[in-house]
Amino acid sequence: MTLRRRLGVAIAALLVIMALAFGGVFLTQRGYQLSQLDERLAGLSANTKALVAMSTRADAGTGAAADLLTDVYVGVHRANGTLRTVLAPDADPTLVPRLLGNERDAGAVTRNTSSGITERVRLVEAFLGGQRYAVVALSMAGLEAQSRRLAIALVLAWLVVAGVALLTAYWVDRLGLRPIADLTAAAEHVTASGGRAAVQVESGNPATEAGRLGTAFNAMVATTAAGQEQLRRFVADASHELRTPLTTLRGYSSLYAQGGLATEEQVADAMSRMNAEATRMGRIVDDLLDLTALGDRAALDLAPVDLAAVLDDLAADLRVRNPDRAVAVQRSGRTRVLADSDRIRQALTALVANAVKYSGEGSPVELVAEKRGPAVRVKVIDHGRGITAAELPRVFDRFYRVAAAGPKGSGLGLAVVAAIVSAHDGRYGVESEPGHGSVFWIELGAAPIDA
Ligand SMILES: Nc1ncnc2c1ncn2[C@@H]1O[C@H](COP(=O)(O)OP(=O)(O)OP(=O)(O)O)[C@@H](O)[C@H]1O
Ligand SMILES: [Mg+2]
Repeated sequence: MTLRRRLGVAIAALLVIMALAFGGVFLTQRGYQLSQLDERLAGLSANTKALVAMSTRADAGTGAAADLLTDVYVGVHRANGTLRTVLAPDADPTLVPRLLGNERDAGAVTRNTSSGITERVRLVEAFLGGQRYAVVALSMAGLEAQSRRLAIALVLAWLVVAGVALLTAYWVDRLGLRPIADLTAAAEHVTASGGRAAVQVESGNPATEAGRLGTAFNAMVATTAAGQEQLRRFVADASHELRTPLTTLRGYSSLYAQGGLATEEQVADAMSRMNAEATRMGRIVDDLLDLTALGDRAALDLAPVDLAAVLDDLAADLRVRNPDRAVAVQRSGRTRVLADSDRIRQALTALVANAVKYSGEGSPVELVAEKRGPAVRVKVIDHGRGITAAELPRVFDRFYRVAAAGPKGSGLGLAVVAAIVSAHDGRYGVESEPGHGSVFWIELGAAPIDA
């Protein structure tokens, strides 16, 4: 059973129980008043003879009974059925009870009246002697009026409680239950769409649990949608990047099939271009795999690594390949970090490759490793073309390449650097001055002394 239905049932049960309790109160009160009326009637009928005698005199205007018994009816009922009124109450002088004939020795009974203002009376019939019976009656108008007032008060009280209960139910429903029902529907919708629909629920009152749940849900859906969009873009970009070398490969192979490559040199040239494109595709695929694998921190093989020593290696390699380029390595402080040596080497290689690629032939490159507080920072400094402030924030994005025509690249190098450094919980950044060069840096936590 849903919470909503339970609430409805509970409130309905509460109202029914209250109605029953109020009914009980009403009946008890009325019963008590009736018993009081009956007690008085019993007292009066115990002295019926005196009563009739007194009443007869009162009728003649000679007795004091008229003053004492202003609300009592007294009559004489004969065996032949005639009823003679000897005393009528002041409030209703025309009062005549409508007798049914079975009142004798029946105790107190309730009867209608056949005339007058009083609608019902309570009466007893008592033996007088001879063929006569005395009928003593009391008006029930007062009792009925009290009962009516009590009934109205109880019904009003019930209505107030019912109103408060329904308002509370509405309130709980609005603030707590309806938002949850909406959320459930929204979550089902998102699931049905395979996570693609970015449904948002109405953001509720943040002071309520349901309101906070709604806000959290919206944030979750937005994050998921953003992730999906990122993934979609990533796949689109990756396909696009792979399509270019593929097109080149296909072009050469169909050229060859149509006999377009006549001489041996032409074939050799085409082969070397095809090989270069295949290598480029291989590198893109490797980078993409790296980017996927690096999301998982457990994939790192951590060990103490001296970053300055890695820079020395890279510098040595660079000097072999570019003898006319000045490469300097500077170190300061203890530059040992806890890292995956292969991954860090890969990241620094990408940075050095960029420094070489985006600066002029023979332009110097400086590599710096320095202790900075609890971290070690490595800087790769070039004096190349630099990067404009507008492009700077995007260079670490996947597939991002600065618009200005320059050396070919897939735009994945720095994204891989960023992923490697992030997997190490490190930081990275770049400062650049267009036309004067760039400083790319990464920072990793220093290894403990005993490592
Ligand atoms: N040292 C640098 N100087 C100037 N521009 C740079 C430098 N390093 C990177 N860039 C710019 O940032 C872009 C992104 O670099 P990234 O290394 O990610 O890709 P890439 O070098 O184009 O391709 P890849 O490294 O995947 O072969 C580059 O295209 C280049 O425009
Ligand atoms: Mg690069």
